[in-house]
Amino acid sequence: MAVHEPTKGSQWWRSGVIYQIYPRSFLDSNGDGMGDLAGITKGLPALKELGVDAVWLSPFYRSPQKDAGYDVSDYVAVDPLFGDLNDFDEMLAKAHELGLRVMIDLVPNHSSDQHEWFQKAFASPKGSPERDFYHFKDGKGENGELPPNNWVSMFGGPAWTQVPDGQWYCHLFDSSQPDLNWSNPKVKKAFEEILRFWLDRGVDGFRVDQPHAMAKKEGLPDHPYVTEAGAGFIEGREAPPMWFQDEVHEIFRDWKSILDEYPGDRAMCGEAYVLPLSLMAKWVRPDEFHQTFNFRFLDAGWQKDTLVAAIDESFEAFDAVGAPSTWVLSNHDVIRHASRFGGEYGRATASDGIGPSDPQPDSELGLIKARAATLFMLGLPGASYLYQGEELGLPEHTTLEPKHRQDPTFARTKGERVGRDGCRVPLPWVAGGEANGFSSVSGWLPQPVIYAELARESQVGKEGSTLELYKSALRLRKKLSLGEGSFDWVLTGDVLSYKNGNITAVHNFGQEPWPLEGNAIIRSGDGSETLFPNETAWLV
Ligand code: NOJ
Repeated sequence: MAVHEPTKGSQWWRSGVIYQIYPRSFLDSNGDGMGDLAGITKGLPALKELGVDAVWLSPFYRSPQKDAGYDVSDYVAVDPLFGDLNDFDEMLAKAHELGLRVMIDLVPNHSSDQHEWFQKAFASPKGSPERDFYHFKDGKGENGELPPNNWVSMFGGPAWTQVPDGQWYCHLFDSSQPDLNWSNPKVKKAFEEILRFWLDRGVDGFRVDQPHAMAKKEGLPDHPYVTEAGAGFIEGREAPPMWFQDEVHEIFRDWKSILDEYPGDRAMCGEAYVLPLSLMAKWVRPDEFHQTFNFRFLDAGWQKDTLVAAIDESFEAFDAVGAPSTWVLSNHDVIRHASRFGGEYGRATASDGIGPSDPQPDSELGLIKARAATLFMLGLPGASYLYQGEELGLPEHTTLEPKHRQDPTFARTKGERVGRDGCRVPLPWVAGGEANGFSSVSGWLPQPVIYAELARESQVGKEGSTLELYKSALRLRKKLSLGEGSFDWVLTGDVLSYKNGNITAVHNFGQEPWPLEGNAIIRSGDGSETLFPNETAWLV
Protein backbone atom coordinates (compact mmCIF):
# COMPACT_ATOMS: atom_id res chain seq x y z
CA MET A 1 0.00 0.00 0.00
CA ALA A 2 1.32 3.41 -0.94
CA VAL A 3 3.00 5.74 1.49
CA HIS A 4 3.89 9.26 0.38
CA GLU A 5 6.47 11.51 2.01
CA PRO A 6 5.88 15.28 2.26
CA THR A 7 6.41 17.09 -1.02
CA LYS A 8 9.90 18.18 -1.93
CA GLY A 9 9.99 21.43 -3.88
CA SER A 10 7.93 24.49 -3.15
CA GLN A 11 6.54 25.32 -6.59
CA TRP A 12 2.88 26.27 -6.47
CA TRP A 13 1.78 23.65 -8.98
CA ARG A 14 2.92 20.82 -6.72
CA SER A 15 0.13 21.46 -4.26
CA GLY A 16 -2.18 24.12 -5.72
CA VAL A 17 -5.91 23.92 -6.26
CA ILE A 18 -6.74 24.85 -9.85
CA TYR A 19 -10.26 25.86 -10.82
CA GLN A 20 -11.37 25.15 -14.37
CA ILE A 21 -13.27 28.01 -15.98
CA TYR A 22 -15.35 27.07 -18.99
CA PRO A 23 -15.52 30.59 -20.47
CA ARG A 24 -18.77 30.29 -22.41
CA SER A 25 -20.63 29.23 -19.27
CA PHE A 26 -18.95 31.21 -16.49
CA LEU A 27 -20.43 34.74 -16.61
CA ASP A 28 -21.78 36.85 -19.46
CA SER A 29 -20.91 40.55 -19.23
CA ASN A 30 -22.49 41.86 -22.45
CA GLY A 31 -25.90 40.24 -22.54
CA ASP A 32 -25.47 37.93 -25.53
CA GLY A 33 -26.10 34.72 -23.58
CA MET A 34 -22.48 33.62 -23.90
CA GLY A 35 -19.92 33.91 -21.10
CA ASP A 36 -16.89 36.08 -21.88
CA LEU A 37 -13.53 37.27 -20.63
CA ALA A 38 -14.92 40.44 -19.04
CA GLY A 39 -17.36 38.18 -17.19
CA ILE A 40 -14.44 36.14 -15.90
CA THR A 41 -12.73 39.32 -14.68
CA LYS A 42 -15.91 40.17 -12.82
CA GLY A 43 -16.23 36.72 -11.30
CA LEU A 44 -12.62 36.31 -10.18
CA PRO A 45 -13.13 37.80 -6.69
CA ALA A 46 -15.67 35.04 -5.99
CA LEU A 47 -12.98 32.49 -6.85
CA LYS A 48 -10.50 34.23 -4.60
CA GLU A 49 -13.06 33.98 -1.80
CA LEU A 50 -13.55 30.34 -2.61
CA GLY A 51 -9.86 29.87 -1.88
CA VAL A 52 -8.37 28.40 -5.06
CA ASP A 53 -4.79 29.12 -6.13
CA ALA A 54 -5.14 29.20 -9.89
CA VAL A 55 -7.62 29.10 -12.73
CA TRP A 56 -7.41 27.19 -15.99
CA LEU A 57 -9.40 28.66 -18.86
CA SER A 58 -10.77 26.35 -21.53
CA PRO A 59 -10.18 27.80 -25.04
CA PHE A 60 -11.25 31.37 -25.79
CA TYR A 61 -9.28 31.66 -29.07
CA ARG A 62 -10.75 32.56 -32.42
CA SER A 63 -12.73 29.55 -33.47
CA PRO A 64 -15.80 28.52 -35.46
CA GLN A 65 -16.88 26.80 -32.21
CA LYS A 66 -17.59 23.44 -33.82
CA ASP A 67 -16.21 21.79 -30.69
CA ALA A 68 -16.79 24.62 -28.20
CA GLY A 69 -13.47 26.27 -29.01
CA TYR A 70 -11.30 23.13 -29.16
CA ASP A 71 -11.21 23.89 -32.89
CA VAL A 72 -8.89 26.89 -33.06
CA SER A 73 -8.64 29.05 -36.17
CA ASP A 74 -6.18 31.56 -34.69
CA TYR A 75 -4.06 30.63 -31.67
CA VAL A 76 -3.04 34.21 -30.90
CA ALA A 77 -6.42 35.95 -31.10
CA VAL A 78 -9.47 35.99 -28.86
CA ASP A 79 -12.76 34.95 -30.42
CA PRO A 80 -15.11 37.96 -30.63
CA LEU A 81 -17.65 35.88 -28.70
CA PHE A 82 -15.38 36.22 -25.66
CA GLY A 83 -13.92 39.70 -26.21
CA ASP A 84 -10.46 40.70 -27.40
CA LEU A 85 -6.84 40.69 -26.30
CA ASN A 86 -7.42 43.76 -24.12
CA ASP A 87 -10.10 41.88 -22.24
CA PHE A 88 -7.64 39.03 -21.84
CA ASP A 89 -4.95 41.34 -20.46
CA GLU A 90 -7.43 42.89 -18.03
CA MET A 91 -8.55 39.49 -16.86
CA LEU A 92 -4.94 38.39 -16.35
CA ALA A 93 -4.05 41.57 -14.48
CA LYS A 94 -7.07 41.18 -12.21
CA ALA A 95 -6.21 37.55 -11.49
CA HIS A 96 -2.63 38.47 -10.64
CA GLU A 97 -3.78 41.37 -8.47
CA LEU A 98 -5.87 38.85 -6.53
CA GLY A 99 -2.94 36.44 -6.29
CA LEU A 100 -4.48 33.90 -8.66
CA ARG A 101 -2.40 32.19 -11.35
CA VAL A 102 -3.82 31.71 -14.83
CA MET A 103 -3.30 28.65 -17.01
CA ILE A 104 -4.66 28.62 -20.53
CA ASP A 105 -5.67 25.73 -22.72
CA LEU A 106 -3.45 24.99 -25.69
CA VAL A 107 -4.82 22.75 -28.45
CA PRO A 108 -1.85 21.52 -30.51
CA ASN A 109 -3.04 18.15 -31.81
CA HIS A 110 -5.48 19.68 -34.27
CA SER A 111 -6.56 23.08 -35.52
CA SER A 112 -9.85 24.19 -36.99
CA ASP A 113 -10.37 23.56 -40.69
CA GLN A 114 -10.82 27.34 -40.85
CA HIS A 115 -7.25 27.97 -39.69
CA GLU A 116 -5.23 29.58 -42.47
CA TRP A 117 -2.77 26.65 -42.33
CA PHE A 118 -5.56 24.28 -43.29
CA GLN A 119 -7.14 26.65 -45.77
CA LYS A 120 -3.80 26.86 -47.56
CA ALA A 121 -3.26 23.11 -47.36
CA PHE A 122 -6.72 22.52 -48.79
CA ALA A 123 -6.07 24.89 -51.70
CA SER A 124 -2.56 23.53 -52.42
CA PRO A 125 -1.66 20.52 -54.52
CA LYS A 126 -0.85 17.03 -53.27
CA GLY A 127 2.65 16.73 -51.86
CA SER A 128 3.00 20.51 -51.31
CA PRO A 129 4.66 21.92 -48.18
CA GLU A 130 1.27 23.42 -47.22
CA ARG A 131 -0.32 19.96 -47.14
CA ASP A 132 2.55 18.74 -45.00
CA PHE A 133 1.22 20.80 -42.08
CA TYR A 134 -1.49 18.13 -41.74
CA HIS A 135 -1.86 14.40 -42.44
CA PHE A 136 -3.04 14.30 -46.05
CA LYS A 137 -2.87 10.90 -47.72
CA ASP A 138 -4.12 9.10 -50.79
CA GLY A 139 -6.96 6.69 -50.17
CA LYS A 140 -7.06 2.94 -50.63
CA GLY A 141 -9.09 1.06 -53.23
CA GLU A 142 -8.80 1.17 -57.01
CA ASN A 143 -9.48 4.89 -57.21
CA GLY A 144 -8.47 5.94 -53.74
CA GLU A 145 -12.13 5.91 -52.74
CA LEU A 146 -11.46 4.27 -49.37
CA PRO A 147 -9.88 5.99 -46.36
CA PRO A 148 -6.10 5.49 -46.01
CA ASN A 149 -6.47 3.38 -42.87
CA ASN A 150 -9.04 2.02 -40.40
CA TRP A 151 -8.87 4.79 -37.80
CA VAL A 152 -12.12 6.05 -36.31
CA SER A 153 -12.91 9.41 -34.75
CA MET A 154 -13.29 9.86 -30.99
CA PHE A 155 -16.60 11.56 -31.77
CA GLY A 156 -17.86 8.64 -33.91
CA GLY A 157 -17.55 7.87 -37.63
CA PRO A 158 -14.32 7.63 -39.66
CA ALA A 159 -11.20 9.64 -38.78
CA TRP A 160 -10.74 10.65 -42.44
CA THR A 161 -12.45 13.09 -44.77
CA GLN A 162 -11.86 13.27 -48.50
CA VAL A 163 -11.08 16.54 -50.29
CA PRO A 164 -12.03 17.32 -53.92
CA ASP A 165 -8.70 16.21 -55.44
CA GLY A 166 -9.22 12.76 -53.92
CA GLN A 167 -6.80 12.93 -50.99
CA TRP A 168 -7.98 12.38 -47.42
CA TYR A 169 -7.06 14.24 -44.25
CA CYS A 170 -6.94 12.76 -40.78
CA HIS A 171 -9.04 14.02 -37.87
CA LEU A 172 -9.17 12.08 -34.63
CA PHE A 173 -12.07 14.31 -33.58
CA ASP A 174 -14.58 16.17 -35.75
CA SER A 175 -13.96 16.62 -39.48
CA SER A 176 -13.63 20.34 -38.68
CA GLN A 177 -10.57 19.50 -36.51
CA PRO A 178 -7.79 18.27 -38.84
CA ASP A 179 -4.79 16.74 -37.01
CA LEU A 180 -1.54 18.66 -37.37
CA ASN A 181 1.57 16.85 -38.56
CA TRP A 182 4.01 17.07 -35.66
CA SER A 183 6.82 15.44 -37.59
CA ASN A 184 6.98 18.66 -39.62
CA PRO A 185 9.53 21.05 -38.01
CA LYS A 186 7.47 24.02 -39.23
CA VAL A 187 4.56 22.94 -37.05
CA LYS A 188 6.91 22.69 -34.07
CA LYS A 189 8.30 26.13 -34.73
CA ALA A 190 4.85 27.68 -35.13
CA PHE A 191 3.79 26.37 -31.74
CA GLU A 192 6.94 27.53 -30.02
CA GLU A 193 6.03 31.01 -31.17
CA ILE A 194 2.49 30.57 -29.88
CA LEU A 195 3.81 29.49 -26.48
CA ARG A 196 6.04 32.53 -26.31
CA PHE A 197 3.22 34.84 -27.35
CA TRP A 198 1.17 33.85 -24.30
CA LEU A 199 4.14 33.53 -21.93
CA ASP A 200 5.18 37.07 -22.90
CA ARG A 201 1.67 38.23 -22.05
CA GLY A 202 2.14 36.76 -18.59
CA VAL A 203 0.22 33.50 -18.41
CA ASP A 204 1.37 31.14 -15.67
CA GLY A 205 1.11 28.02 -17.74
CA PHE A 206 -0.78 25.78 -20.11
CA ARG A 207 -3.17 22.89 -19.97
CA VAL A 208 -2.25 20.96 -23.10
CA ASP A 209 -5.08 19.27 -24.99
CA GLN A 210 -4.63 15.69 -26.24
CA PRO A 211 -0.84 15.66 -26.08
CA HIS A 212 -0.78 11.87 -26.31
CA ALA A 213 -2.15 12.04 -29.87
CA MET A 214 0.34 14.50 -31.30
CA ALA A 215 3.03 12.10 -32.54
CA LYS A 216 1.69 9.49 -34.96
CA LYS A 217 3.48 6.33 -35.99
CA GLU A 218 5.39 6.73 -39.23
CA GLY A 219 3.27 5.79 -42.26
CA LEU A 220 0.01 5.88 -40.27
CA PRO A 221 -0.60 2.12 -40.19
CA ASP A 222 -3.95 0.56 -39.26
CA HIS A 223 -5.09 0.47 -35.64
CA PRO A 224 -4.24 -3.17 -34.81
CA TYR A 225 -7.36 -3.83 -32.71
CA VAL A 226 -9.84 -1.22 -33.85
CA THR A 227 -12.87 -3.51 -33.57
CA GLU A 228 -12.25 -3.96 -29.86
CA ALA A 229 -10.93 -0.50 -29.00
CA GLY A 230 -12.68 1.81 -31.48
CA ALA A 231 -10.87 5.13 -31.41
CA GLY A 232 -9.11 4.28 -28.15
CA PHE A 233 -6.64 1.74 -26.79
CA ILE A 234 -6.75 -1.17 -24.39
CA GLU A 235 -4.58 -0.95 -21.35
CA GLY A 236 -1.75 -3.45 -21.38
CA ARG A 237 -1.83 -3.89 -25.18
CA GLU A 238 0.49 -2.24 -27.65
CA ALA A 239 -0.02 1.50 -28.18
CA PRO A 240 -2.08 2.07 -31.35
CA PRO A 241 -0.33 4.24 -33.96
CA MET A 242 -2.09 7.46 -32.88
CA TRP A 243 -1.65 7.21 -29.10
CA PHE A 244 1.36 7.86 -26.87
CA GLN A 245 4.14 7.33 -29.37
CA ASP A 246 7.63 7.87 -27.96
CA GLU A 247 8.46 10.73 -30.34
CA VAL A 248 6.06 12.95 -28.44
CA HIS A 249 8.37 13.37 -25.44
CA GLU A 250 10.88 15.42 -27.37
CA ILE A 251 8.23 18.05 -28.10
CA PHE A 252 7.49 18.58 -24.44
CA ARG A 253 11.14 18.67 -23.45
CA ASP A 254 11.46 21.58 -25.87
CA TRP A 255 8.40 23.27 -24.43
CA LYS A 256 9.61 22.77 -20.88
CA SER A 257 12.88 24.50 -21.72
CA ILE A 258 10.92 27.42 -23.17
CA LEU A 259 8.86 27.73 -19.98
CA ASP A 260 12.05 27.58 -17.94
CA GLU A 261 13.34 30.70 -19.70
CA TYR A 262 10.54 32.65 -18.02
CA PRO A 263 10.50 33.65 -14.36
CA GLY A 264 7.84 32.60 -11.87
CA ASP A 265 7.23 28.83 -11.93
CA ARG A 266 5.29 28.59 -15.19
CA ALA A 267 3.73 25.16 -15.50
CA MET A 268 2.32 22.72 -18.05
CA CYS A 269 -0.36 20.17 -17.33
CA GLY A 270 -0.91 17.49 -19.94
CA GLU A 271 -4.34 16.11 -20.65
CA ALA A 272 -2.60 12.83 -21.36
CA TYR A 273 -4.84 9.81 -21.25
CA VAL A 274 -2.10 7.25 -20.75
CA LEU A 275 -2.55 4.15 -18.64
CA PRO A 276 -1.29 2.46 -16.50
CA LEU A 277 0.05 5.40 -14.53
CA SER A 278 3.54 3.90 -14.62
CA LEU A 279 3.48 4.87 -18.34
CA MET A 280 1.94 8.22 -17.60
CA ALA A 281 4.79 8.92 -15.19
CA LYS A 282 7.11 9.14 -18.21
CA TRP A 283 5.27 12.30 -19.13
CA VAL A 284 6.13 14.04 -15.88
CA ARG A 285 9.82 13.27 -15.70
CA PRO A 286 11.69 16.35 -14.47
CA ASP A 287 12.30 17.73 -17.96
CA GLU A 288 8.77 17.26 -19.37
CA PHE A 289 5.28 18.15 -18.11
CA HIS A 290 5.00 19.48 -14.58
CA GLN A 291 1.87 17.45 -14.11
CA THR A 292 -0.78 15.48 -15.97
CA PHE A 293 -4.41 14.86 -15.25
CA ASN A 294 -5.11 11.75 -13.27
CA PHE A 295 -7.73 9.90 -15.28
CA ARG A 296 -7.27 6.78 -13.18
CA PHE A 297 -8.62 8.69 -10.19
CA LEU A 298 -11.38 10.32 -12.25
CA ASP A 299 -12.42 6.90 -13.55
CA ALA A 300 -12.31 5.17 -10.19
CA GLY A 301 -15.89 6.17 -9.42
CA TRP A 302 -16.87 6.33 -5.80
CA GLN A 303 -16.16 2.72 -4.94
CA LYS A 304 -13.76 1.68 -2.26
CA ASP A 305 -11.67 -0.90 -4.10
CA THR A 306 -11.09 1.05 -7.29
CA LEU A 307 -10.48 4.23 -5.30
CA VAL A 308 -7.85 2.61 -3.06
CA ALA A 309 -6.15 1.07 -6.08
CA ALA A 310 -6.17 4.40 -7.95
CA ILE A 311 -4.66 6.30 -5.03
CA ASP A 312 -1.98 3.65 -4.49
CA GLU A 313 -1.10 3.57 -8.17
CA SER A 314 -0.95 7.38 -8.31
CA PHE A 315 1.52 7.80 -5.45
CA GLU A 316 3.65 4.90 -6.63
CA ALA A 317 3.88 6.13 -10.20
CA PHE A 318 4.30 9.86 -9.64
CA ASP A 319 6.55 9.62 -6.59
CA ALA A 320 8.92 7.46 -8.64
CA VAL A 321 9.67 10.47 -10.87
CA GLY A 322 9.32 13.21 -8.25
CA ALA A 323 6.14 14.68 -9.76
CA PRO A 324 3.00 15.60 -7.84
CA SER A 325 -0.08 13.53 -8.38
CA THR A 326 -3.12 15.48 -9.45
CA TRP A 327 -6.69 14.70 -8.43
CA VAL A 328 -9.91 15.53 -10.22
CA LEU A 329 -13.57 14.54 -10.05
CA SER A 330 -15.27 16.64 -12.74
CA ASN A 331 -14.47 18.54 -15.92
CA HIS A 332 -16.21 19.73 -19.10
CA ASP A 333 -16.01 16.28 -20.73
CA VAL A 334 -17.60 14.06 -18.09
CA ILE A 335 -20.89 13.79 -16.20
CA ARG A 336 -20.70 16.10 -13.18
CA HIS A 337 -19.84 14.03 -10.12
CA ALA A 338 -22.95 15.18 -8.23
CA SER A 339 -24.93 13.24 -10.86
CA ARG A 340 -22.43 10.52 -11.71
CA PHE A 341 -22.42 9.30 -8.12
CA GLY A 342 -26.23 9.27 -8.05
CA GLY A 343 -26.50 6.34 -10.46
CA GLU A 344 -24.63 3.72 -12.46
CA TYR A 345 -22.94 5.54 -15.31
CA GLY A 346 -19.72 3.58 -15.71
CA ARG A 347 -16.28 5.09 -16.10
CA ALA A 348 -16.36 8.86 -16.17
CA THR A 349 -14.24 9.19 -19.30
CA ALA A 350 -16.20 6.52 -21.16
CA SER A 351 -19.63 7.88 -20.32
CA ASP A 352 -21.43 10.08 -22.73
CA GLY A 353 -23.70 12.31 -20.77
CA ILE A 354 -27.17 11.53 -19.50
CA GLY A 355 -30.17 12.08 -21.76
CA PRO A 356 -33.88 12.35 -21.00
CA SER A 357 -34.46 8.70 -21.86
CA ASP A 358 -31.59 7.37 -19.71
CA PRO A 359 -32.10 6.28 -16.10
CA GLN A 360 -32.05 9.51 -14.10
CA PRO A 361 -29.63 10.00 -11.20
CA ASP A 362 -30.72 10.05 -7.56
CA SER A 363 -29.83 13.70 -7.06
CA GLU A 364 -29.94 13.66 -3.27
CA LEU A 365 -27.62 10.67 -2.94
CA GLY A 366 -25.43 12.04 -5.74
CA LEU A 367 -24.88 15.31 -3.89
CA ILE A 368 -24.19 13.60 -0.56
CA LYS A 369 -21.55 11.42 -2.18
CA ALA A 370 -20.12 14.24 -4.28
CA ARG A 371 -19.54 16.45 -1.24
CA ALA A 372 -17.91 13.55 0.58
CA ALA A 373 -15.75 12.62 -2.40
CA THR A 374 -14.51 16.19 -2.78
CA LEU A 375 -13.64 16.45 0.89
CA PHE A 376 -11.79 13.14 0.69
CA MET A 377 -9.93 14.37 -2.41
CA LEU A 378 -8.99 17.78 -0.99
CA GLY A 379 -7.19 16.15 1.93
CA LEU A 380 -4.81 14.36 -0.43
CA PRO A 381 -1.34 15.79 -1.02
CA GLY A 382 -0.68 16.94 -4.59
CA ALA A 383 -2.55 19.32 -6.88
CA SER A 384 -6.33 19.25 -7.22
CA TYR A 385 -8.51 20.38 -10.08
CA LEU A 386 -12.05 21.66 -9.55
CA TYR A 387 -14.56 22.24 -12.34
CA GLN A 388 -16.67 25.38 -12.26
CA GLY A 389 -19.99 24.87 -10.53
CA GLU A 390 -19.01 21.83 -8.50
CA GLU A 391 -18.54 24.17 -5.54
CA LEU A 392 -22.28 24.87 -5.84
CA GLY A 393 -23.12 21.16 -5.95
CA LEU A 394 -24.44 21.55 -9.50
CA PRO A 395 -25.86 18.41 -11.08
CA GLU A 396 -25.69 17.55 -14.76
CA HIS A 397 -28.54 18.85 -16.94
CA THR A 398 -30.00 15.47 -17.79
CA THR A 399 -33.11 16.49 -19.72
CA LEU A 400 -31.73 18.81 -22.39
CA GLU A 401 -33.77 18.55 -25.54
CA PRO A 402 -32.10 17.52 -28.81
CA LYS A 403 -32.59 21.01 -30.28
CA HIS A 404 -30.17 22.41 -27.68
CA ARG A 405 -27.42 19.84 -28.19
CA GLN A 406 -24.19 21.31 -29.54
CA ASP A 407 -21.55 18.70 -28.78
CA PRO A 408 -20.44 17.25 -32.15
CA THR A 409 -20.74 13.76 -30.66
CA PHE A 410 -24.53 14.10 -30.72
CA ALA A 411 -24.73 14.83 -34.45
CA ARG A 412 -21.92 12.45 -35.46
CA THR A 413 -23.65 9.52 -33.73
CA LYS A 414 -27.15 10.61 -34.80
CA GLY A 415 -28.15 11.14 -31.20
CA GLU A 416 -27.05 7.72 -30.01
CA ARG A 417 -24.53 9.41 -27.70
CA VAL A 418 -26.06 12.54 -26.19
CA GLY A 419 -22.64 14.07 -25.57
CA ARG A 420 -21.23 16.48 -23.05
CA ASP A 421 -23.55 19.49 -23.12
CA GLY A 422 -25.17 18.51 -19.81
CA CYS A 423 -22.06 19.41 -17.80
CA ARG A 424 -21.45 22.65 -19.71
CA VAL A 425 -24.59 24.56 -18.77
CA PRO A 426 -24.14 28.23 -17.65
CA LEU A 427 -23.52 28.81 -13.94
CA PRO A 428 -26.25 30.23 -11.70
CA TRP A 429 -25.00 33.32 -9.82
CA VAL A 430 -28.17 34.91 -8.43
CA ALA A 431 -31.54 33.15 -8.42
CA GLY A 432 -34.14 34.48 -10.86
CA GLY A 433 -34.21 36.38 -14.13
CA GLU A 434 -33.55 34.83 -17.51
CA ALA A 435 -30.50 32.79 -16.53
CA ASN A 436 -30.08 33.02 -12.74
CA GLY A 437 -27.62 35.90 -12.98
CA PHE A 438 -25.42 34.31 -15.63
CA SER A 439 -26.71 36.70 -18.27
CA SER A 440 -29.47 39.24 -18.75
CA VAL A 441 -30.86 37.02 -21.51
CA SER A 442 -31.22 33.25 -21.63
CA GLY A 443 -27.91 31.45 -21.81
CA TRP A 444 -26.51 29.51 -24.78
CA LEU A 445 -27.81 26.38 -23.06
CA PRO A 446 -30.85 26.41 -20.77
CA GLN A 447 -30.34 25.67 -17.07
CA PRO A 448 -32.33 22.99 -15.26
CA VAL A 449 -34.89 24.30 -12.75
CA ILE A 450 -32.82 23.27 -9.72
CA TYR A 451 -30.02 25.71 -10.66
CA ALA A 452 -32.10 28.58 -9.20
CA GLU A 453 -31.94 26.98 -5.76
CA LEU A 454 -28.20 26.40 -6.10
CA ALA A 455 -27.26 29.93 -7.20
CA ARG A 456 -23.99 31.15 -5.71
CA GLU A 457 -25.50 34.13 -3.92
CA SER A 458 -28.02 31.94 -2.08
CA GLN A 459 -25.20 29.74 -0.76
CA VAL A 460 -22.84 32.45 0.47
CA GLY A 461 -22.69 32.37 4.28
CA LYS A 462 -25.39 29.68 4.45
CA GLU A 463 -24.51 27.05 6.98
CA GLY A 464 -24.20 23.63 5.42
CA SER A 465 -24.20 24.88 1.84
CA THR A 466 -21.90 23.15 -0.61
CA LEU A 467 -20.17 26.46 -1.32
CA GLU A 468 -19.35 26.97 2.36
CA LEU A 469 -18.14 23.37 2.61
CA TYR A 470 -15.71 23.96 -0.28
CA LYS A 471 -14.54 27.25 1.22
CA SER A 472 -13.87 25.69 4.63
CA ALA A 473 -12.11 22.71 3.10
CA LEU A 474 -9.85 24.94 0.99
CA ARG A 475 -9.11 27.20 3.94
CA LEU A 476 -8.14 24.26 6.15
CA ARG A 477 -6.19 22.59 3.35
CA LYS A 478 -4.08 25.72 3.05
CA LYS A 479 -3.72 26.34 6.77
CA LEU A 480 -2.58 22.77 7.41
CA SER A 481 -0.44 22.60 4.23
CA LEU A 482 -2.22 19.42 3.19
CA GLY A 483 -1.31 19.91 -0.48
CA GLU A 484 2.38 19.59 0.44
CA GLY A 485 1.72 16.92 3.02
CA SER A 486 2.18 13.18 3.42
CA PHE A 487 -0.03 10.17 2.90
CA ASP A 488 -0.47 6.89 4.71
CA TRP A 489 -3.50 4.63 4.83
CA VAL A 490 -5.02 4.10 8.28
CA LEU A 491 -8.12 1.97 7.67
CA THR A 492 -8.88 0.21 4.42
CA GLY A 493 -12.13 -1.52 5.28
CA ASP A 494 -15.62 -0.16 4.70
CA VAL A 495 -14.51 2.78 6.73
CA LEU A 496 -11.61 4.10 4.71
CA SER A 497 -9.15 6.56 6.16
CA TYR A 498 -5.75 8.04 5.55
CA LYS A 499 -3.43 10.30 7.46
CA ASN A 500 -1.94 13.51 6.08
CA GLY A 501 0.19 15.21 8.74
CA ASN A 502 -2.00 15.78 11.75
CA ILE A 503 -5.33 15.07 10.13
CA THR A 504 -7.05 11.81 9.38
CA ALA A 505 -9.53 11.92 6.53
CA VAL A 506 -12.16 9.26 6.90
CA HIS A 507 -15.01 8.14 4.64
CA ASN A 508 -17.76 5.70 5.48
CA PHE A 509 -18.36 3.34 2.55
CA GLY A 510 -20.36 1.02 4.82
CA GLN A 511 -24.07 0.74 5.56
CA GLU A 512 -23.86 1.57 9.26
CA PRO A 513 -22.97 4.78 11.09
CA TRP A 514 -19.46 4.73 12.50
CA PRO A 515 -18.58 6.27 15.88
CA LEU A 516 -16.16 9.13 15.26
CA GLU A 517 -12.80 8.64 16.91
CA GLY A 518 -11.39 12.14 17.17
CA ASN A 519 -12.55 15.70 16.68
CA ALA A 520 -14.03 16.47 13.30
CA ILE A 521 -12.68 19.78 12.03
CA ILE A 522 -14.83 19.52 8.94
CA ARG A 523 -17.35 17.05 7.62
CA SER A 524 -19.37 16.64 4.45
CA GLY A 525 -22.65 15.85 6.22
CA ASP A 526 -24.34 17.37 9.23
CA GLY A 527 -22.82 17.11 12.67
CA SER A 528 -23.51 14.23 15.06
CA GLU A 529 -21.55 11.74 17.13
CA THR A 530 -21.28 9.35 14.22
CA LEU A 531 -20.07 9.36 10.66
CA PHE A 532 -23.01 8.37 8.50
CA PRO A 533 -22.70 6.16 5.43
CA ASN A 534 -21.41 8.17 2.45
CA GLU A 535 -19.97 10.85 4.72
CA THR A 536 -16.39 12.16 4.98
CA ALA A 537 -14.75 13.96 7.91
CA TRP A 538 -11.29 15.27 8.67
CA LEU A 539 -10.33 14.37 12.22
CA VAL A 540 -7.62 15.66 14.51
C1 NOJ B 1 -10.17 17.16 -24.97
C2 NOJ B 1 -11.06 18.30 -24.58
O1 NOJ B 1 -11.14 18.34 -23.18
C3 NOJ B 1 -12.39 18.04 -25.25
O2 NOJ B 1 -13.39 18.91 -24.80
C4 NOJ B 1 -12.20 18.16 -26.74
O3 NOJ B 1 -13.40 17.82 -27.40
C5 NOJ B 1 -11.11 17.21 -27.24
N1 NOJ B 1 -9.94 17.23 -26.38
C6 NOJ B 1 -10.67 17.60 -28.61
O4 NOJ B 1 -9.95 18.79 -28.57
